[in-house]
Amino acid sequence: MHYFYLVFFAFFFQSCRENSDISGPRHPHGIIPAPAFFQPSGEEKSNIRQLKICLPENFGPTGYLQQLSKAVAQLTWTADCSSSNVILVHEDSLLSESYRLAVEKDSVRISYADDRGLQYALTSLIQMAEFGDFPLRMCTIQDRPSFSYRGMHLDVARHFFSVEDVKKYLDFMAFYKFNHFHWHLTDDQGWRIEIKKYPKLTETGAWRKETLVGHYNDEPVRYDGQKYGGFYTQGEIREIVKYAADRNITVVPEIEMPGHALAALASYPELGCSGGPYEVATTWGVFTDVFCPTEATFTFLEGVIDEVVTLFPGKYIHIGGDECPKESWKKSAFCQQLIKSRGLKDVYALQSYFITRMEKYINTKGRQIIGWDEILEGGLAPNATVMSWRGNEGGIEAAMTGHEAIMTPGSHCYFDHYQSEGPEEPLAIGGFTSLEKVYGWNPVPESLNAEQRNFIIGGQANVWTEYIRTYDRVEYMAYARAMAMSEVLWGTNSNYQDFLDRFDIHHLYWQKTGANVAYHLLDLKPQFLSGDGKGVRVKFTAPEGTVINYVINGQEEKKAKPGEEIVIDRSVNYTFQAKRGERTGRKISFNFDLHLGTQAIIQIDPPPSSKYFGNGPASLVNGVNGRNDSYSGVEWLGFEGTDAVITLDFQKNVTLNQVLLRFFKAEGQWIYLPPLIELYTSPDGVSFSKYTSISNIGAYEKIGDILFNLGGANTRFLKIHAHNYGVIPDGRQGAGHRAWLFIDEIAVR
Ligand code: ACM
Repeated sequence: MHYFYLVFFAFFFQSCRENSDISGPRHPHGIIPAPAFFQPSGEEKSNIRQLKICLPENFGPTGYLQQLSKAVAQLTWTADCSSSNVILVHEDSLLSESYRLAVEKDSVRISYADDRGLQYALTSLIQMAEFGDFPLRMCTIQDRPSFSYRGMHLDVARHFFSVEDVKKYLDFMAFYKFNHFHWHLTDDQGWRIEIKKYPKLTETGAWRKETLVGHYNDEPVRYDGQKYGGFYTQGEIREIVKYAADRNITVVPEIEMPGHALAALASYPELGCSGGPYEVATTWGVFTDVFCPTEATFTFLEGVIDEVVTLFPGKYIHIGGDECPKESWKKSAFCQQLIKSRGLKDVYALQSYFITRMEKYINTKGRQIIGWDEILEGGLAPNATVMSWRGNEGGIEAAMTGHEAIMTPGSHCYFDHYQSEGPEEPLAIGGFTSLEKVYGWNPVPESLNAEQRNFIIGGQANVWTEYIRTYDRVEYMAYARAMAMSEVLWGTNSNYQDFLDRFDIHHLYWQKTGANVAYHLLDLKPQFLSGDGKGVRVKFTAPEGTVINYVINGQEEKKAKPGEEIVIDRSVNYTFQAKRGERTGRKISFNFDLHLGTQAIIQIDPPPSSKYFGNGPASLVNGVNGRNDSYSGVEWLGFEGTDAVITLDFQKNVTLNQVLLRFFKAEGQWIYLPPLIELYTSPDGVSFSKYTSISNIGAYEKIGDILFNLGGANTRFLKIHAHNYGVIPDGRQGAGHRAWLFIDEIAVR
């Protein structure tokens, strides 16, 4: 819990491939998470061509490290310690998990605090040999994490992952020096841990009759009609716990209570307040049927905990506590009586009673509870650790009252969110959490003072799997961002550009192993500059060292730098692609139509909603149409309950023949075509006269392309007033809510 304030030195040296077996780019050390202190001895290289390591007896991670380094040609393991040129020294005086590593002319010296320190030193050495300069640069490393809790979570309830999959996850975690695996074992959609005393939990609770297809918000909802489920036997759980321990990873099992309990209630309906019947959930979300705080429920949960503590030797048992609706307790005569007899204030105090009672029981087993931040409501259990997920507030409150907190705010730590805005991203729950955003996260809330900060013991990334059906998809969603998270939790996330250089190398390594690691560094997102009377330009941001290659009309090849304005001067196709080192990004392509509007100055008053702001007003006159299949992205502008009033100034008198307006329609999402559109002209931008209007715009499926023939109107200004329903009328979808109006491109000829 102590802080380790470090100065992180970043070094930029030319990469070097001499005498190396491994092709591809290199880095001075290549280690993720970057070590706290790395000091090369100038440019000097060691003479070592083959690292020979003799491991101590009974060292847990031996098998793991030997397996890990199989493909690393520069490293061999030996049982003959006299032949080793990697000298290992155990030093009690070092802090837990820390190590020192010195690459000298003819040997490597490692001092380590404990098993973890030695495992991390050797992992760093393997990464240096694989990804860094080789022969190794002579250097000194002093290394130790900032946070003692460095977690990755996996939800196996929404979708089930095999023992082999979980082992892959643990291997990945170990490679990046994570030390806690939060295993989300029970939820509404499935109970995944065998409990001998309660066999129905896995006979019934581990299976659902079918699963939602598509997104939770889709209408109409669809199900796949396929029975789905699975669970881990106690033997398999022991195998995984041992596998994790051999990598110095502690498994934190989560048994959800009092909410997210439908799978348990379906198995033992007497544990709910209504008595059931209940069904294992087939869709996502939060359900109102939860454990009833009866003696039968406590006996049951204590029985479950009795077996859980024999399977998981770690300090923490996670008991959930999140998202527990109180409806069933409010309706229950038993609960109302219990509230009265215990002198509790309300149902929130009843939740606190529930958690505190379970905490006491778990404490008698010598263990401590972790709960999601809702366990603060109604009074926090005395020894509980809070996992802060609904922002930082729960963690702040815990730390201010002297409780440990683990930070896992949705904004930075939910890896079920989108990581790219590219159109081919697989369906995700929502949100947007890029690699760069994760990397820039600081787990310690700024508002805490030095003493309170000590209670923030670390952070964790969460991988909820409603929209993640396969392990391949877990890799895609989690791995890239977990690399960034590892550096955050190690406390060395100070140089994103340097991280990207290492990320590139590690990414290639994972690709070679067949892992499906996302790569979005070279996704180009255009920023259009238009609507200022100077024509259409586009620019891109991209990591340092990126070149933007573009091809005009399939023929003319050009290059630009990130941030450089590219002038679009022809109505043809432009294709853009980023290149950095050996890597190229996805191609993006636009068919520009440089109509008269692209030369105009545009004004929109009132502005569109900040939720759908695209590239701002420029989006409407950049010569590019918004997508037909989606209203998000840089083209479409959304107005929530307000009219779109848009004025174009052509800066001189022009003759207008046609105006083509384009609207998006999706009434299920409360997006309506305008009931009335008016066009005005003006010579001076002050006095406008109505030129034409349309109030019955006809039937359109999704895109309303509305054409006005103006027959040679002469004007300097054109005002378009597209009316919004404001509030959605009765009888239509979303009635009573604010209507959305979506527009993209005002094509003027
Ligand atoms: C949570 O995401 N419900 C902890």
